[in-house]
Amino acid sequence: MLVALFAGDGIGPEIMAEARRVLDALGLDGLTYEEGLVGGAAYKAKGHPLPPETLDIARRADAILFGAVGDYDCDALERHLRPEQAILGLRKELTLFSNLRPAKVFPQLADASALKQEVASAIDLLIVRELNGDVYFGEKGIRTTADGLREGYDIMSYNEAEVRRIAHSAFRAAQVRRKKLCSVDKANVLETSQLWRDVVTEVAADYPDVELSHMYVDNAAMQLVRNPGQFDVIVTGNLFGDILSDQASMCVGSIGMLASASLDANGKGLYEPIHGSAPDIAGQGKANPLATILSAAMMLRYSLGRPEAADRIEAAVAKALESGARSPDLGGAMTTREMGDAVLAVL
Ligand code: NAI
Ligand code: MG
Repeated sequence: MLVALFAGDGIGPEIMAEARRVLDALGLDGLTYEEGLVGGAAYKAKGHPLPPETLDIARRADAILFGAVGDYDCDALERHLRPEQAILGLRKELTLFSNLRPAKVFPQLADASALKQEVASAIDLLIVRELNGDVYFGEKGIRTTADGLREGYDIMSYNEAEVRRIAHSAFRAAQVRRKKLCSVDKANVLETSQLWRDVVTEVAADYPDVELSHMYVDNAAMQLVRNPGQFDVIVTGNLFGDILSDQASMCVGSIGMLASASLDANGKGLYEPIHGSAPDIAGQGKANPLATILSAAMMLRYSLGRPEAADRIEAAVAKALESGARSPDLGGAMTTREMGDAVLAVL
């Protein structure tokens, strides 16, 4: 199987190098790697943040491991040439509509959570966020009403095919976890949510082994802080998912620990840390590579059919933390390379 490695710019190359060392250390056969330029690095070399040769690798690959993009030097560029267009372009070209964001508290880091330690240590959940629809993509604009007032509008809509495919993606994820799915909406107020709830309930018939529940988004925001341990998988739309996934990540602690995946309907996916290219610390060996290493583990689990290799990486990360491995974001002084070394030492 082919794995595309797109390091990007900023801290991207540093964190990707450590993920690559971990993948190599696993000694998995049947995997080949191809590197491609994205973001600021691609703009400087090829004049575009997502050049055709990179897109070609992405199309042929079974999975993509992505570092980060967002180079400061590119700030003056027009929007379509900005580094972030690489990630948006890949999501669109590959129809990556299902965003998976796990939030799990490593017991060794429970003190880094914004929550009380006993609440935080129970967190082991996955948010599945729809990425291609909702209010972000509806008709939008700013118009002037008859009485001369400026009025902004963004239309929220989901059709049943869009809801069905994200529901299937979420039920499949729940099947390889604790088999509990909570669908989050605002069905007491929004028609879009009423349809969402109806369709998710229909899809549930295909997954009798998964227990489905529904929750209003305002309550979900409250429950994520009050009792996050009650959740296994949460599925929700683009807008609610954007907010809830950021909220859940702060329950975990450092941004340098959080992995994510964006999947298509067949399980092909792009895997990346949730953080950006951190230009403030780029090139200084200060970046925590664990989010990228954990993204590689997710890739092995969800796209490459190697759950045992994913388990090995996750266990090695936990062991490394247990033995005291801490980059500056975790309150320590270890370099990016030393963090990678700590994981490799366990493997
Ligand atoms: P950021 O995530 O790059 O950085 C936020 C803060 O977290 C910074 O203080 C940074 O030093 C720290 N940080 C981030 N990753 C870290 C790591 N692995 N280890 C230790 N500390 C870490 O977000 P920011 O500053 O808002 O954005 C910087 C650039 O990245 C922007 O151009 C933004 O558009 C882009 N970006 C790209 C993303 C992607 O590649 N998917 C996602 C988010 C932002
Ligand atoms: Mg966000």
